[in-house]
Amino acid sequence: MHPDVEKVLLSTAELKNKVTELGQILSRDYAGKNLLAVGILKGAMVFMADLIRNISVDVQIDFMAVSSYGASSKSTGVVRIMKDLEQNIEGRHVLIVEDIVDTGLTLNYLLEILKAREPASVRVCTLLDKPSRREVDVSVNYNGFSIPDEFVVGYGLDYNEKYRNLPEIYVLKKEVYQK
Ligand code: XMP
Ligand code: MG
Repeated sequence: MHPDVEKVLLSTAELKNKVTELGQILSRDYAGKNLLAVGILKGAMVFMADLIRNISVDVQIDFMAVSSYGASSKSTGVVRIMKDLEQNIEGRHVLIVEDIVDTGLTLNYLLEILKAREPASVRVCTLLDKPSRREVDVSVNYNGFSIPDEFVVGYGLDYNEKYRNLPEIYVLKKEVYQK
């Protein structure tokens, strides 16, 4: 284990099983439809890569990047689009793919922007949810795991751009971010 992490929260096996399950549910729910999966960079990229390989309906992918926490582990509520979609989503079935929903502020903002572009539908699939931290009421249609209020890294999630490459999801040692 990496010396900066306290413990494994979700193992590779647990992640794999959940992603398979989510893929099956999505394949069923979007049967007969053409899906556009929108991954939110950078955190969702590992989850997205695994998820789409478990979806059996036709799926196209695109990405958005929004400003995140930077070097702090607290949300500022300020969300800025750093990279927008490449395509017009009018009339499309859009699935936002997120790594984690925390306060909900990022997602709330993204949903507003995307709904204004008149897609046929917009739903949200997140690998992780921290319900105890929610500040805005935002609907999450597909959730992998609800987790306690601890800062987690790995499987695409970072602290200060580190740890994204770690294969599992870990709780980061408090001394790493409480300086
Ligand atoms: P909000 O608060 O807007 O935040 O729902 C969503 C974004 O915050 C980041 N985030 C985390 N990143 N470990 C991380 O690596 C965490 O425990 C964590 N909690 C929130 C993440 O970028 C997410 O997209
Ligand atoms: Mg993110």
